[in-house]
Amino acid sequence: MADLSSPDATYSRFGRRFRLAVNTGGGDAPGLNAVIRAVVMSALNRGWEVVGIRQGYDGLLDGDGVVQLDEGSVQGITHLGGTILGTTNRGNPLRFPVERPDGSVETVDRSQEIVQAFRDRHIDALVAIGGDGSLYIASELSKQGLPVVGVPKTIDNDLAATSVTFGFNTAVQTATDAIDKLHSTAQSHERIMVVEVMGRHTGWIALFAGVTGNADAILIPEVPYRMEKVAEHLRRKYARGPRYGIVVVAEGAKPEGGEVSLRPGEQPGDSQRYGGLAERVAEDLQELTGFQTRSLVLGHLQRGGQPTAYDRLLALRFGSAAVDVVERGEFGCMVALDPPDVKAVPLEEAIRELKKVSVDSDVVRTARRLDISFGD
Ligand code: F6P
Repeated sequence: MADLSSPDATYSRFGRRFRLAVNTGGGDAPGLNAVIRAVVMSALNRGWEVVGIRQGYDGLLDGDGVVQLDEGSVQGITHLGGTILGTTNRGNPLRFPVERPDGSVETVDRSQEIVQAFRDRHIDALVAIGGDGSLYIASELSKQGLPVVGVPKTIDNDLAATSVTFGFNTAVQTATDAIDKLHSTAQSHERIMVVEVMGRHTGWIALFAGVTGNADAILIPEVPYRMEKVAEHLRRKYARGPRYGIVVVAEGAKPEGGEVSLRPGEQPGDSQRYGGLAERVAEDLQELTGFQTRSLVLGHLQRGGQPTAYDRLLALRFGSAAVDVVERGEFGCMVALDPPDVKAVPLEEAIRELKKVSVDSDVVRTARRLDISFGD
C-alpha cells in the first residue's frame, strides 16, 4: 500500500491529491463489489483518494450520498453479491421525473447539475460501472466535460464492445443449476417444465444455460419460434423416451409474427419489463401435446449471490484496468475484454449496438447437433 502522505502521490490539477469517484448503476450483477474493491485498491496504491456515490447518481443529487472509501471499506467484499454502493435502474438523470404541483409528471435533464456537483466536490474523474443504460448516461456526461471511464456490467451479456460482461457467467451458472434440478422432477412426473430466464432483448443466458443444462428446446429473441415446432419436437422425445421435457425460454423471446410478452400495464420501450412468457408457452405446449406442463420464472435469483471465480477475476481485472485508463487520461472510454487483453474502447462505440446471439454461432450449431430445438 502506498504511503498516502508521500510527496510521490499523484496530485490533481487542483493541487491536491487526485480524487476518484466510483458508482454502480442499473440492475445489479454479481461482481460489482469485486470491481469496486479493485478500483479502490488500485487508486489508493497510486496515492489517490476515492469516494463512492450511492445509488447511481442519486447520491450526488441528494447531498449526503457521497462516501469516503478506504482499504477497510472494501475489505472482504470480492465474493459478495450486490453492491456496497447501492444502485438504481430507475430515475435516469437525463430524464429525471419531477412531479408538478398539478400532479402531472415531467422529465428534466439534470446532467449539468451532476457535472457541477462533481466539480463542487473536487472530484477529478469517475469510474462508472453499469450496463447499456448507465453507460449511455456516462457517455452523455462525458460529452459535457466529466472525465469518466466505464466498466461493463450486466448479466445479459448484451454489450457488443466487450467479448463478455461480468455477471453473465454467474447468472448462467445459477440458471444451469436450476435446470439440473428440474430434470428429476420433470422425469418423475413425465412433465414438460418451462423455465424463463432473464436477458431482455438477447438470448445469451437462455442459450448457454439451455445447452449446459441439457434442455430439449431453447427459445431466444434472435430466433422467432413456432410453438407447433416445439410441440412436435417434444412429442418425438416422449415417443422415444425419456418421457419428459425441459424448455428454456428467454424472457424476450417471441413467436414468429408475434409480440414479446410484457408485464401487465407495461408500455413497449427502453425500460419495458418482460413477464409471462413461460406461463404462456407452458399453456400452449400442454394444449398442443396433451402432456402435463408446469412453468417457473427464475427472475432475480440470476442477479443474486456470490460471483463465480470467473466473474470475480474479470471484475477485478476490469476495476484495475479502469484505474489504468484514468491514469492515462483516456476519458470517455470503457474497459472491455478482448481476450487475452483488457483494452479501452470509446464509450460511444460501446453503446452503439446490442450484442445479439448469432444464429450461425458455434454454440447454436452445437445445440442443434445435440438435438435441441429452437422452435424454428
Ligand atoms: O438488465 C438486467 C436485467 O436483470 C434484465 O435481464 C431484466 O429484464 C431486468 O434487468 C429486470 O429489471 P428489474 O430489476 O427492474 O426487474
